[in-house]
Amino acid sequence: GGELPRWKPGAHIDLHLEGEMVRQYSLSGDHEDPTCYRVGILREPAGRGGSAAVHDTLISATPITVSWPRNNFRFAEAEQYLFIAGGIGITPILAMIREAERQGKDWKLLYGGRSRKSMAFLAELEPHGDRVQLVPQDELGHLDLDSVLGTSVDNTLIYCCGPEGLLQAVEEKSAHWPKGSLRLERFAPKVVVRDHEDEPFEVEFTQSQKAVTVSADESILDAAKREGISVISSCENGTCGTCETLVVSGDVDHRDSILTADEQEANKTMMICVSRAQGKCPKLVLSR
Ligand code: FES
Repeated sequence: GGELPRWKPGAHIDLHLEGEMVRQYSLSGDHEDPTCYRVGILREPAGRGGSAAVHDTLISATPITVSWPRNNFRFAEAEQYLFIAGGIGITPILAMIREAERQGKDWKLLYGGRSRKSMAFLAELEPHGDRVQLVPQDELGHLDLDSVLGTSVDNTLIYCCGPEGLLQAVEEKSAHWPKGSLRLERFAPKVVVRDHEDEPFEVEFTQSQKAVTVSADESILDAAKREGISVISSCENGTCGTCETLVVSGDVDHRDSILTADEQEANKTMMICVSRAQGKCPKLVLSR
């Protein structure tokens, strides 16, 4: 009955579904409207069950618990924007387009999907005319990333959301753009290739004044829970940001799919569900 907590474009919420499933979905509506949160959920028959639970069990007026909005895909200030969406990855982009329009910014959207029929929100995008380039794969093939990313453009931010293959292709093809031009949203963890086995290491938690040994086959999050240290988590695969923890000292082997390369290099925070210590005598001091 009251106003919903406010959010900014790029934010997502957790939906608490049947069977204690917690799933993250981007907010795709108008962030200036405090009366509703809108999400767009594609039914994924081969998924882990979250989208099927939504489609099968949520009917109109079913109460549902959701988290506060969190934002790992912030809409930052730029002169112009290039949005690239694959499939249901269009959802956070819709809120960004609305904000870019509100600010009178120049923007372009490249939106690919399997077929026109399977591409969500086309009617909502239609009034934007040729700012929007639709690429249904059955008619036009894959997105032509070379033509949009071939020449780097200053003062332009690229926002991309979609399947892992698209994210990787956009990362590769925009590598020559100015540092920090690309912002990605991952809901599935990126593949981290390691050339060595994980080793145990020590972690000291300053707030709880406890030290734990994290074994080779557990995460810092697991070790902290085992020791009764207060930690919250959701995805436990480095994609949601819930477990982000301040790093007081130590070298981190960042394995999350959220922090940018610059943020990982700055080493100020880490996702303790996936990232570990690195170095010769690995030890981390964390603020928890
Ligand atoms: Fe989601 Fe760690 S619990 S990033």
